[in-house]
Amino acid sequence: MKVGVGAGELATLKSATGLLGGSMKVVVSIGGSVLAPDLGSERVSEHAAVIEALADEGCSVGAVVGGGGVAREYIGTARELGANEIRLDQIGIDVTRLNARLLIAALGADAVPAPAKDYEEAGEAMRHGDVCVMGGVTPAQTTDAVSAALAEYVNADLLVYATSVPGVFNADPNEDDGAKRFDSLSAGDLVDVIADLDMTAGSSAPVDLLAAKIIERSGVRTIVLDGTDPQRIGDAVRHGDHDGTDVAPERAGDEPTYWVEE
Ligand code: UTP
Repeated sequence: MKVGVGAGELATLKSATGLLGGSMKVVVSIGGSVLAPDLGSERVSEHAAVIEALADEGCSVGAVVGGGGVAREYIGTARELGANEIRLDQIGIDVTRLNARLLIAALGADAVPAPAKDYEEAGEAMRHGDVCVMGGVTPAQTTDAVSAALAEYVNADLLVYATSVPGVFNADPNEDDGAKRFDSLSAGDLVDVIADLDMTAGSSAPVDLLAAKIIERSGVRTIVLDGTDPQRIGDAVRHGDHDGTDVAPERAGDEPTYWVEE
């Protein structure tokens, strides 16, 4: 529990101001296929509205945006043209940053005007009260890992993965009708589950192994949920309410005080 305000004080604070508890810091990871499945402005606006509302309620928000289908198309085409994997990653990073610029366009004055290029830049923006948006930063990883690293860098209270897979499953739910969703997992168990999924060719794990390892070492409380309806992100951040998977820190104590009763 990293918020320096007790549950009683929080209730008073909340009734006095209507704000979220303390200075809650959250990193939201928005998959490219969740934010911009078809480059429509409506979905991007809806995500921006949720982030703006959280920021208005006193939440410090860092958003990390993935590349989605557009990144896959560019990478596939460049692979056919003979580009090597690092160069393909660079193309992927460029697409994630393009998607980040879409979200920035929708956020207007609340956000820094360009995607942060590294964690220091992102952390600096958040310290100044701006919403920071970033895409990829360096080859050989994905924005799953960027999100976990940003959460670690800024000591976030909460990391939310808004993905197209509605939680962490014991098998790929798109392939296996019997796949079961975990309501909650320890970070160590998350690493084991993702490592097993990685071994299954073609399985779509909701977060990748590097991200799971960063979550484990940082101990950041994490939620993996279906982000196709952005309101779910708001509910998860405000109240801890969601239908996805909780990844609780190993040293979890009581419920965090930043979650406000509905
Ligand atoms: P994504 O984070 O969207 O990758 O970045 P992903 O997880 O493969 O995509 P989804 O979740 O299935 O839609 C797109 C690509 O950009 C490069 C990688 O090639 C990645 O696959 N990338 C991204 C990096 O190399 N480094 C980064 O920090 C981020």
